[in-house]
Amino acid sequence: MEFQIHNPLDMHIHFRDEEMKDLVAPLTSWTFSGALVMPNLVPPVMNLEDLKAYKKRIEAVTSQDNFTPYMTVFFHEGLTREVLEEIKDYVTTIKLYPAWITTNSEWGVTSILSDTNKKIFADMQDLGIMLSIHGETGDFVMDREANFMPNYELIAKEFPRLKIVMEHITTREAAQTLDKYPNLYATITLQHLEITLDDVAGWALKPHLFCKPIAKRDEDRDALLELALSGHPKVSFGSDSAPHPQHAKECCGCAAGVFTAPIALQVLTEIFEKNEKLENLQKFVSTNAISIYGLTPNTKTIELEKKEFQVPEKYGNVVPYKAGETIAWSIKTIS
Ligand code: NCD
Ligand code: ZN
Repeated sequence: MEFQIHNPLDMHIHFRDEEMKDLVAPLTSWTFSGALVMPNLVPPVMNLEDLKAYKKRIEAVTSQDNFTPYMTVFFHEGLTREVLEEIKDYVTTIKLYPAWITTNSEWGVTSILSDTNKKIFADMQDLGIMLSIHGETGDFVMDREANFMPNYELIAKEFPRLKIVMEHITTREAAQTLDKYPNLYATITLQHLEITLDDVAGWALKPHLFCKPIAKRDEDRDALLELALSGHPKVSFGSDSAPHPQHAKECCGCAAGVFTAPIALQVLTEIFEKNEKLENLQKFVSTNAISIYGLTPNTKTIELEKKEFQVPEKYGNVVPYKAGETIAWSIKTIS
């Protein structure tokens, strides 16, 4: 059995920088037409100069593939109207992180709905710049995303022409909030379509499944699956593939992030096939994103075949999702 995907897009990726970028960026550019590159470097991508330089460094290691890195800037209080006008044509979204909530977010915002931030939201709305948000509060870990929902609602209501993406949603509450406002959108990762907290910490602790937001309950996972499998037009695939070196995962103080990039399309195909919804995979992994973000992706066709593939134990010094396991689909050709 074979299956084709055209122009796949990953709307939430972490490429990092230097050797890690050199290792992981080609593992995405190989099979995807484009990916939305998150700005949480150390220090983050804050302005046009950083963005252009980072984009060049990514292109230097992905130019062998027909691939576009779509860029983001880290949301901060210095985003004046002039700065926003300057970066407008170079960014696909601006990414807002609450301070300290995830990897490299210490430069994030401490008060989301401050007057300064509202002025920035208003300018972004005027200029047609999209806002991506890591939507978690600092509450009890299982409640962080659900408790963030009022913030999404307030911003969506007050700025009805601002397109807001709820990044990597993990809860039933987020799935329910999505359709309340026409300007709210969402991305969903691969792992959150499969795992729950039980897989992460129910038995032996699995550091390579630990990410932010943490995987939740069965009913949450099922709500996300329903959105993705139905090809809901406001939802796109965003892997949130977030590589960390093995020593930073297998230690006391495990870094958050699951590295899924090398097997993302194969496992998505497996999930959609198992659920008899293969006809909607193209929407989830490409056409929805094209219309939400207004993209004209590079032309690429991925042919997958139903043939077992054993996931490597490691890519460089990074342990991937499903390391050593056998998955049902393989990449056959890329054209
Ligand atoms: C991401 C990372 O490592 O950069 N980690 C994660 O657990 N998802 C940051 C993020 O998207 O939260
Ligand atoms: Zn992320």
